Amino acid sequence: KRPAGAPDKSLARPVTKVGIVGAGLMASQLALLFVRRLEVPVVLTDLDQERADKGVAYVHAEIDKLLAKGRINQDKANRHKALVSCETDKQVAFGDADFVIEAVFEEMAVKKTVFADVEKVVSAECVLATNTSSLSITEMAADLEHPERVVGFHFFNPVAVMPLLEIVKGEATDDATLATAFATGKSLKKTTILVKDSPSFIVNRLLGRFMSEVGRIVDEGTSVGVADSAFAGIAPMPPFVLLSLVGPAIALHNNETLKGAFPDRFYVSPALERIVAAKKGAYYGPDGRLDPEVEELLEKP
Ligand code: 3HC
Repeated sequence: KRPAGAPDKSLARPVTKVGIVGAGLMASQLALLFVRRLEVPVVLTDLDQERADKGVAYVHAEIDKLLAKGRINQDKANRHKALVSCETDKQVAFGDADFVIEAVFEEMAVKKTVFADVEKVVSAECVLATNTSSLSITEMAADLEHPERVVGFHFFNPVAVMPLLEIVKGEATDDATLATAFATGKSLKKTTILVKDSPSFIVNRLLGRFMSEVGRIVDEGTSVGVADSAFAGIAPMPPFVLLSLVGPAIALHNNETLKGAFPDRFYVSPALERIVAAKKGAYYGPDGRLDPEVEELLEKP
């Protein structure tokens, strides 16, 4: 059955090579998923070789884990490893790609620059997908020569296990792009839904409401540990563990976007702002205990 809002699947174009802009954790998780499910060459690019190399190393390490668990055999592991590579020259990386997805820093200007650069080296039919969690697809595509091939393709952490994929249609997105996005989502074995191009789409808007209230509870004096324990019965992951998985900076960005769009309904926690300003990446340390520096930042007036 065709997902609601998906165009005729006969319009979908084949995806024989995938390009990924970025080599951070999200980009690397995407590379792993595309390699495993589509079994086509996947090229990661980043600003420097070292970061791009790390992305490939992550994919190889995850494939080794799957091999050790007996999920895949040695042949498949070798084949999948050989499909992923990194490249700093965008022309070489993306010249013959038919699907390029960006997972760079969550800022409109940065994403616009990335797409403008990628557009110079790809064919007119190459889909430009963005993993943005909150920004407008229409605006991101607006200055491009071919805004019709831009589509939102929003995954959730951890990418390997979370089943949902939000597909976002911008004002200019055409049916062939949308059909290709749905067909690709299906090949990736994700549940695809078409969502409106509105701030934070659906999932992060719902989650933002929840996280903004948890932030307020902690700002009012409840400890992070107690807030996390209190939610054990209703959510699969305690909110501050989730916040650490997603990254406090992304969560704050999402909250700010939502507060800007719906000021009456969202709250931006000053403690979260302090934690992001101090560049803390997680609430809990590797030992599972609350990071003492985070504890101090939470207590500051
Ligand atoms: N990477 C890869 N695989 C992972 C993983 C990770 N980080 N974490 C867990 N897994 C895998 C495990 O290996 C295991 O696989 P296996 O059965 O093949 O061995 C499977 O997931 C289940 O893991 P566990 O039994 O250890 O743990 P749980 O039962 O607690 O499940 C979870 C883990 C599925 C991650 C669950 O805790 C969960 O659903 N958490 C909520 C996550 C969530 O809400 N994500 C959305 C975040 S919002 C977002 O990403 C949007 C963005 O724009 C900000």
